[in-house]
Amino acid sequence: MLSVLQLYSSSPLRNFSYLIYSDRNGEAVCVDPYDAKQIVTALKKLGLKLKSILNTHEHPDHVHGNLELKEETKATVFGHPDARGKIPGMDEILKESGVYFENEGDSLVAWETPGHTDCHFCFALQSRTGTHSVFSGDMIFNAGVGNCTRGGNPSRMYHTIKNRFYSIPDEVLLYPGHDYWENNLGFSESIEPGNHSVTEVRSLMERKTKDVDFLISDFGMERKINPFFRLNEDSVRNSKRLESKESLSEEELFIRLRKLRDSW
Ligand SMILES: [Fe+2]
Repeated sequence: MLSVLQLYSSSPLRNFSYLIYSDRNGEAVCVDPYDAKQIVTALKKLGLKLKSILNTHEHPDHVHGNLELKEETKATVFGHPDARGKIPGMDEILKESGVYFENEGDSLVAWETPGHTDCHFCFALQSRTGTHSVFSGDMIFNAGVGNCTRGGNPSRMYHTIKNRFYSIPDEVLLYPGHDYWENNLGFSESIEPGNHSVTEVRSLMERKTKDVDFLISDFGMERKINPFFRLNEDSVRNSKRLESKESLSEEELFIRLRKLRDSW
């Protein structure tokens, strides 16, 4: 069985890196290393050997720790084929549905997910019974989605999320690349002021120790609080923030919300 360690870096961008590891054989992979020293310390503490560094995409805050971590551990660096030259230390390419870690029936599978950039992958942790969790990089955040202003496209993001994530089971856990809970819940509240689930989740979040302990959502929770997963709710469609009288397609509504979030 594979375990997950979430590592938070108190950079202004509130980055998360992840170690996915096997207690049984002591092997690990790292998704989006930010602070290499922090990751090396965690590897030593848990007695793990790092096999691979997996980058969700090419933005500097997701590849920040690549070279130092590679130097320390000799791990192989994987990235999107079109991001070669932008991902420091990249050795190998990621492929759609490729398996990048496996142990005792669990596997870590790459899903190509363009939208935030054209070179984006998410990683799904799967067991024999289905998907257990998703490492979503800058594609999906708690109560939000990534921006499309640095190499992305909101229409492609909509289609990726619709095809990959709208039907994902409720119990699948979401491990995003940043802690953007607070801002995103504020945006959700501005779109749907009467959404009690947002208020409930905010109080759950506020019970956590700030910058130490983080609320982990699942897709069931996202369907209650994330406006980008609520495009067919009247309260979103009729939101005063949209200032629109015409009836919008699901895709147009997604793009409209994304644009509003850009200037929120
Ligand atoms: Fe990014």
